[in-house]
Amino acid sequence: MSAYQEIEHDVLVIGAGGAGLRAAVEAASAGVDVGLVCKSLLGKAHTVMAEGGMAASLANVDERDGWTTHFADTMRGGQYLSNWRMAELHAKESPERARELEKWGALFDRTPDGKILQRNFGGHKYPRLAHVGDRTGLEMIRTLQDHGIHQGMDVHMEVTITRLLKDGDRCVGAFGYDREQGRFRVFKAKAVVLATGGLGRAYLVTSNSWEGTGDGHSLGYHAGAEMRDMEFIQFHPTGMVWPPSVRGILVTEGVRGEGGILKNNKGERFMFDDIPSLYVNQTADNAEEGWRYVTGDRDARRPPELLTRDHVARKIVKEVQEGRGSPHGGAFLDIAWIKEHIKDSEGHIKKKLPSMYHQFKELAGIDITKEQMEVGPTTHYAMGGIAVDADTQMTTTVPGLFAAGEVAGGLHGANRLGGNSLSDLVVFGQRAGEYAAKFAKENPSYSVSEAQIEEAATEALAPLERGVTDRNPFQLQLELQTMMQDKVGIAREDKGLTDAIGLIREISGQIADVGAGGNRWYNPGWHTALDMKHLLTVSEAIALSARERKESRGAHSRLDHPDKDEGWSTFNHVVRKGPDGEMIIERQEIPQMRQELQDIIEEEG
Ligand code: FUM
Repeated sequence: MSAYQEIEHDVLVIGAGGAGLRAAVEAASAGVDVGLVCKSLLGKAHTVMAEGGMAASLANVDERDGWTTHFADTMRGGQYLSNWRMAELHAKESPERARELEKWGALFDRTPDGKILQRNFGGHKYPRLAHVGDRTGLEMIRTLQDHGIHQGMDVHMEVTITRLLKDGDRCVGAFGYDREQGRFRVFKAKAVVLATGGLGRAYLVTSNSWEGTGDGHSLGYHAGAEMRDMEFIQFHPTGMVWPPSVRGILVTEGVRGEGGILKNNKGERFMFDDIPSLYVNQTADNAEEGWRYVTGDRDARRPPELLTRDHVARKIVKEVQEGRGSPHGGAFLDIAWIKEHIKDSEGHIKKKLPSMYHQFKELAGIDITKEQMEVGPTTHYAMGGIAVDADTQMTTTVPGLFAAGEVAGGLHGANRLGGNSLSDLVVFGQRAGEYAAKFAKENPSYSVSEAQIEEAATEALAPLERGVTDRNPFQLQLELQTMMQDKVGIAREDKGLTDAIGLIREISGQIADVGAGGNRWYNPGWHTALDMKHLLTVSEAIALSARERKESRGAHSRLDHPDKDEGWSTFNHVVRKGPDGEMIIERQEIPQMRQELQDIIEEEG
């Protein structure tokens, strides 16, 4: 038998970004014992990459805003594939969650009369993003972390989970190892919440850091949960493109929210060229009106730079492909131009976008108060994720297993609006924590078999026991990322997707030969070998779902099916593990929306 440390909690939360922390806070406040597992150090999470703000219809800047408009915007942005009940709960509850963060100490920027300030973002009809300069996610994490620690919970840092543990159909814990010395940990729990974030590391160019390897998606899937909407990957239009070492790092949409404009190498604002029909009435057709919108003119329409991310990203790629890109394969993003309208523009930019100012100054030698940035799309977010019940966040097929935040699918449909992720984290993190605690109280007894633990230990040790082999984990990871970028990226077509599926299966077949030299202490080769299972699982789900959807919608863009097809608007793709371990993809009808919600969408236009 392998040695391991056994730890018991009522509720185990895997992942310590905004959703995990909020779930842990809620469960602890319900009086159950909570364990919080972080792959990295507490406080380091992709949540900090939602820089520009948290969407909540507080109506502090424009009193016309309300949950109905936020709901309609979210459904339109998701091209009507969202789980409408999640979109309803999210729109209704995000204002309360924002005020709660303020009460817990989050230092939001302020309106002149002292309310939480809100800024414009793509696809939101009114200024809706509560923000802290361009460090909103960071402030959210800081606040939740402070609050959570005082609630009382055990934090297990630098622990990677490799498997979920089951008792029959029910999830009752997780198996993992600490990254320092590779010691095994067995967590036993009455309920488990997945809050592991996203999977950007399946791609070469991404805003995600090393932790974003789709662990929760894959852990849930292999334990019997379903994944939905996996074809929809968000390529944020503005990541850094130069120098190469920083390629992919996020450039917040807040730059455009503050008036930043996109230009090609001829100095043209190309975003005016082609406005999608869903947004034609809301979008300015001249620069002057766009600027008036940014400065709060209620009659003006939004500048085209604030269209949804899927559209903006595709437009940048088009400029590059047609020879009008910036020197390093992107477009120019210019916030310095606001000096034409604002007296102390330098002070204004530094105040509203302090991180962007430092990021470009230190990493690219560019002063954004005077010079243009070079930006291009970066893999940022997975709209798809584990299928959950909208109200409780429990997975649809595994009792006792909950999911919240980016790892959970449903809210964002075919495309997420910027700022809707921070609100998603706290709205559904709170719900997951509440219902996981309830489940734990109502289902106190369970058991975990030793055989299951031994199987997990054997699987985890396999790459080490093989020693150094021809199949190096880093090389395999790079092959996968390069291929995903190339064939399952921003523009897709049948042949590329079929090739991708073939390659993913080929690499999966080679996993049994991957060896990691060294021992269990501080061994990134071993960690990468274990991450590969997750990366391959999510990559296959993305490529399969993308090949099946023979239309272009939201973030899913098919060169061989360039138009949206209404025939594809009535179902989602669901992926699950078949009896022989094969990945099965199915269509699932979208349930009929309640009449009152249909009326809201109609009225909001
Ligand atoms: O651009 C940003 O600040 C990112 C926000 C988000 O992804 O919600």
